Amino acid sequence: MDHQINQTSSSPQHGGYGVIEDVDSVTDCVVRAMSRAPNARLRAIMESFVRHLHAFVREVRLTEAEYDVAIDFLNRIGKATNDTHNEGILFADAVGFSTLACLLNNGLHGAPQTAAALLGPFWRDNAPFTPNGASIVRSPTPGPTLFVTGHVRDPHGRPIPEVEVDIWHSSPVGLYENQDPNQAEMNLRGRAHTREDGVFQFRSVKPAGYPVPTGGPVGDLLRAQRREPYRPAHLHVMGYKPGYKTLITQVFVPDDPYIENDVVFGVTRTLMGDYRRHDDGEPPALDVTPPWYTLDYTFVMEPGEAKRPMPPIK
Ligand code: BEZ
Ligand code: FE
Repeated sequence: MDHQINQTSSSPQHGGYGVIEDVDSVTDCVVRAMSRAPNARLRAIMESFVRHLHAFVREVRLTEAEYDVAIDFLNRIGKATNDTHNEGILFADAVGFSTLACLLNNGLHGAPQTAAALLGPFWRDNAPFTPNGASIVRSPTPGPTLFVTGHVRDPHGRPIPEVEVDIWHSSPVGLYENQDPNQAEMNLRGRAHTREDGVFQFRSVKPAGYPVPTGGPVGDLLRAQRREPYRPAHLHVMGYKPGYKTLITQVFVPDDPYIENDVVFGVTRTLMGDYRRHDDGEPPALDVTPPWYTLDYTFVMEPGEAKRPMPPIK
């Protein structure tokens, strides 16, 4: 009968992490099971994660049917993710996880003035290098011409030369090139280096707002929450130079109807760009007819580690 000793405490008796005595003892038991991880940061993160997860399950008194929905949702995120689509990032974006992590890790310890914004699921590595000032329109694309001039500076306002600047945006029909068979490979994507004065220039078309992909589990969630799937029009920009923290950001069109309703919570006041419409005067290039737009924006890069993100898609 020895093995039937009735323990009343959840503390382990035989050097293990213990058996589950009751609903209250589960959390500590799981934390003990993970406590031997040699990596202290992993230990701290997983303990906190488990404690918060268990507290959440207790707070909402999760039913078994809801548990099934949650597991199915996770599995569907995995199944919907492939080389050309990243449902995991889309989910992180749609619940504000990406923006929170971005604001916490950039700028003045999360002050809203941070120059950074979420990466999103559509960045592709290896966009073609484009001479400063050249066009990133690689197949016929509707929309007014946009001339972008970026100034890359350090926190003291000094220009930073030789920054590799990557720019990408959706076409005005609302699709990124990799989602749209009618666009050329790498259309509306390009890279350039800043000049000695920290300036880079691109020519493109003015971006328009677009809906995020809604064919997977994240789309189901948005519909269930009666949320619209739209992002306000924006340009994505990444600045990379050894010695500086890689800057990943977006510059938004402030009069977009969704500027205050970005489905992925990327908009901050600093990231509103001055997209200026020109109806007359001499166009900057012979083939341009009015109206055309210009955008002049200053990007601030902080000293730090230059690290390219893991590409969300190929
Ligand atoms: C994007 O801007 O490319 C994006 C960001 C989050 C979700 C979907 C798209
Ligand atoms: Fe985008």
